[in-house]
Amino acid sequence: MNILDTLDADDFEQLTLVRDPDSGIRSAVAVHDTTMGPSLGGVRMRSYPSHADAVRDALALARAMTFKSVLAGLDLGGGKSVIDAEPTRANKARFLPVHARHIASLGGRYIPGADMGTDASDMEVLAKHVPTVSSRRDPSPFTARGVFRAVGATLARTGDGGLAGRRIAVQGLGKVGRALVTLLREAGATVVVADVDEDRVREARDVADAVPVAVDEILTADVDVLCPCAAGGVLTPAVLDGLRARALVPGANNPLVSAGQAVVLHERGVAYVPDFVANAGGVIACEAEVHGCDEGVDAKIDTIGATAVEILDAAAARGIDTVTVAYEIARERLDARAAARPAFPAVP
Ligand code: NAI
Repeated sequence: MNILDTLDADDFEQLTLVRDPDSGIRSAVAVHDTTMGPSLGGVRMRSYPSHADAVRDALALARAMTFKSVLAGLDLGGGKSVIDAEPTRANKARFLPVHARHIASLGGRYIPGADMGTDASDMEVLAKHVPTVSSRRDPSPFTARGVFRAVGATLARTGDGGLAGRRIAVQGLGKVGRALVTLLREAGATVVVADVDEDRVREARDVADAVPVAVDEILTADVDVLCPCAAGGVLTPAVLDGLRARALVPGANNPLVSAGQAVVLHERGVAYVPDFVANAGGVIACEAEVHGCDEGVDAKIDTIGATAVEILDAAAARGIDTVTVAYEIARERLDARAAARPAFPAVP
């Protein structure tokens, strides 16, 4: 689908493209939906095969942020921006101030945060130009807490008890995976881990008493729950065929290769908690950061467990997949809010 058709089909409010001959930047800011509040989403910096690919990525990511925030019960909309360049210190120094001034020109409709290729120090650069910036602290521990709650609630839902003695697989021992392993171990689970970085595997084994397995075995390990916490798109058809976990609770964004895979998981009786539900702890923490108040943030993250169960139960009752159910619940909430008040702030 071409970009203009995507804007129409998915009801985007705004897409702006940044061109600046002095710096040479090519970036895009996508604001999907501000029904619930200002859009919030990361600034992704990576080199794309084409600029159209960069724009498409911004659109897909912005839309996903709308649903993530709605289902987390936040007064935030969905947005995302991309800078089409391999991140290096040199081009960040050239590009970030230009990108930031463009964000500032949107008058608060888009709140930036860190994402692939950007970090908290880059957010400090943006903050010199943009009044409200998130991710000036690392959201990963909050993301891990939410995934942990979703795992616990998913297991409790089957009535077999809690985490103690269960086997959980964690793929990827980065910022989210490491923190998740610690929480799972503290709850008494046996945790099977893999990472392409052997130092991280060694640390998880020595510090958290996790059980390492080979990188190509983690996704099909014989476990109760699988938690992909590395890259997206890891649930290839071959992995799905070999899947032995009874539940799938991702930290990673977009772990499925296609939407149809959610249907396959449903048909095979695998409890799939959609990524945009399970990994919403980070955006919940970003909202608290934006409001300058952490009170109640952990309790809000802990509601991810109940949301996961609500979606799993609704999908089971209706005989459809969890991703479809999650979108429908989010859409109902958006429609109810839209009927009650105009988008934030109304475009002049
Ligand atoms: P990270 O970059 O700190 O960690 C990723 C880890 O995965 C690294 O240790 C890397 O070596 C490992 N890895 C890469 N390919 C692998 C493979 N094939 N097999 C095993 N391990 C592999 O990233 P972070 O921040 O922990 O994020 C993990 C995932 O969660 C990403 O998909 C990210 O988009 C998503 N996410 C992260 C949030 C956060 O708060 N950090 C919030 C929401 C989603």
